[in-house]
Amino acid sequence: MTAERATALFDQVASVYDEVLPFFAGFGEQHMEWLAPAPGTRVLDLGAGRGALTGAALARGCQVTAVDCAPGMVERIAAQYPDVHGTRVMDAHRLDFPDSSFDLVCAGFVVHLLDDPAAAAQEVRRVLAPGGVFSFSVPGAVEDAPEWEFYSALFREFQPRIPAGEGRLSRPLDEQQLLVTAGFTDVGDADIEQRLPVPDADTFWNWALSHGSRAFIDALPADSRSEFEARVRAELSTMDPIVFASGASLWRGTSPA
Ligand SMILES: C[S@@+](CC[C@H](N)C(=O)[O-])C[C@H]1O[C@@H](n2cnc3c(N)ncnc32)[C@H](O)[C@@H]1O
Repeated sequence: MTAERATALFDQVASVYDEVLPFFAGFGEQHMEWLAPAPGTRVLDLGAGRGALTGAALARGCQVTAVDCAPGMVERIAAQYPDVHGTRVMDAHRLDFPDSSFDLVCAGFVVHLLDDPAAAAQEVRRVLAPGGVFSFSVPGAVEDAPEWEFYSALFREFQPRIPAGEGRLSRPLDEQQLLVTAGFTDVGDADIEQRLPVPDADTFWNWALSHGSRAFIDALPADSRSEFEARVRAELSTMDPIVFASGASLWRGTSPA
């Protein structure tokens, strides 16, 4: 069920995704720096979106294939990155590639959205060559940014106003267990952060509507949605300048040789 909602939502936002603020591109660059793949590495970007990881891997001379369940994302990534080896509309749970096709499968902010992350991890292992790496990012904490605690607190406060089965696309995930259970070894993780200058409150609100959090905002009853927006804008009005502090966790595991 989440898969259909995710496809519809990300297709809806594809034209503006990562265009309002370079939020995912920034994390994608840090993620690829952490992985540091050699030129020529065969990379699959799983749930590629607008290509935050694809772009960073291409810049390192990798051979990149990008797939996503949202056709609007795939169309745009193909147009934006002519050097990409292949782009396909594909569900992460059923990868239409032969065994051992890739040296690195990376997934930026995708795995926590999946209906069945364990099934997807098994598919990733199948398409990875022995010794290949599976790496993904999930939203994480940010240190020393108490002024941004209001944002996640608002999501928690407004959550009960959303009808069951709607709203957030993300689910709780035990990342370590996911990798270990799927048979990956040398499991490791790292926390990263970024601080993005935001020109004004309108830009921040447009950013909130340009990615997955839109599912939450759209699912609020109309009066609650207006209240949520007003509360966000009130907090932003106390910041000068507005610098959006956010964090992510990176995970990796190796497919046994
Ligand atoms: C938060 S976005 C991240 C996009 C990109 N990786 C990035 O870092 O900006 C999540 C992406 O995963 C895709 N996605 C969600 N569920 C998927 C699935 N089951 N199979 C393939 N892609 C999926 C969405 O369409 C969306 O483009």
